[in-house]
Amino acid sequence: MDRFVFFGGKGGVGKTTVSSAYAHKCARAGIETLLVSTDPAHSTADVFDQHFDDDPTRVDGYDALSVMEIDPEEAVDQHMMSIRRALDDQVSPAIVNEIDRQIELAHRTPGAHEAALFDRFIDVMRNADGFDRVVFDTSPTGGTLRLLSLPEYLGGWIDRLLDKRQKSVDLFEKAAIGDMEPRRTEVGDPIIARLQQRKENFEFAGETLRSEASFFLVLNPDQLSVRETGRAVEQLRGYDLSVSGLVMNRMTPEPDPDENGRGARFLRDRIETERERLREARADIDPPIVATIEARVREVKDDLLEPVAEEIEIDIE
Ligand SMILES: Nc1ncnc2c1ncn2[C@@H]1O[C@H](COP(=O)(O)OP(=O)(O)O)[C@@H](O)[C@H]1O
Ligand SMILES: [Mg+2]
Repeated sequence: MDRFVFFGGKGGVGKTTVSSAYAHKCARAGIETLLVSTDPAHSTADVFDQHFDDDPTRVDGYDALSVMEIDPEEAVDQHMMSIRRALDDQVSPAIVNEIDRQIELAHRTPGAHEAALFDRFIDVMRNADGFDRVVFDTSPTGGTLRLLSLPEYLGGWIDRLLDKRQKSVDLFEKAAIGDMEPRRTEVGDPIIARLQQRKENFEFAGETLRSEASFFLVLNPDQLSVRETGRAVEQLRGYDLSVSGLVMNRMTPEPDPDENGRGARFLRDRIETERERLREARADIDPPIVATIEARVREVKDDLLEPVAEEIEIDIE
C-alpha cells in the first residue's frame, strides 16, 4: 500500500468512519499511522472520544495511531495571513489597505477553502516524517484538482511571470537607487520566492499524489451515490489520478431465514435493491469494490471500530 491513502466521497457516506477504521487497522498491525481529518464537524473526535487539533496527537489506547484535525476556516486564515505577510513590506500602506480588502473578499471566494486546505495537505505530505502511513478522510475534488494541474496547465505562465517580475525588479532597482547598493536583488525578492515556492508545491503535490498515494471512494448502495461515485472516478482520472477501489458502506444485514414478519420482509426487499445497486456499481464503474461494510445499529466507534475494520479488506502492508 502507498504511504498516503485518501478516502473520498460525498458528505455522510462514511469517509470518516472508513478512514478511522482503516487507520485503526494499520496502527494495530504496528504501522506508525497518522489520520488526517478535515471535517469541520470534527468527527474523528467522536470516533475516538478525544479532542484533536492541528498537531498530530497520539490516540489514547494506541501505540501507533495519531490524529490531526485541520480546521478549514483556520487554514484559510493562515493562508491569507501568509499572503499578507509576503506582500506587507513590499508595498505602500495605501496598497496594504487595498490588499486587506482583497484578502477579506478572497475569504468568501468559492475555492478559497479548497486552496487553503490543499496547502495544508501539501504541508502534511511534506512533513509527515515519522509516519509510515498517512490516511486522509477526504480526497481532492473539483477545485482542488484544478490546482493540481496548475503547473502543467499554465505551462510556462509562472516561469514567464517570474521572468517578468525579475526584470521589473531589476529595472526598479536601476531607476530607484541610482548608484546606491541594490537591496532586493541582494536579499532576494519575496514575491518571486513565493511564486516559485507555490509552483514547486503544486509540482510536488502532483508527483506525490501520482506516485505515492492511493485513492478509495466510499459510497452507499443507492442510485445517487453510485452515480456520484462514477463521476468522481472520471474526474480524478482527468487529472491522471486513478482510484484503486470502492468501499460500499451501510449494506443492510440479512434477517434470519426463519423470520417472516413485516420488518424481515422490508429488510429483504431493501437488500434486493442494494444488491442491484452493487451490481450497477460493479458494471458501470471501473475500480473494483474492495470492501462492503454492513450498517450497524449505532454510530461506528468504540468497540464497533474493530469489526468494521475487519470488513475493510484493503491491504495494509
Ligand atoms: N456502517 C455504518 N453503520 C452505522 N453507522 C454508520 C456506518 N457508517 C457510518 N455511520 C455513521 O454515519 C454518520 C456519518 O458517517 P461519517 O463517517 O461521519 O461520514 P462522512 O465522513 O462521509 O461525512 C456517523 O455518525 C457514522 O458513525
Ligand atoms: Mg467526515
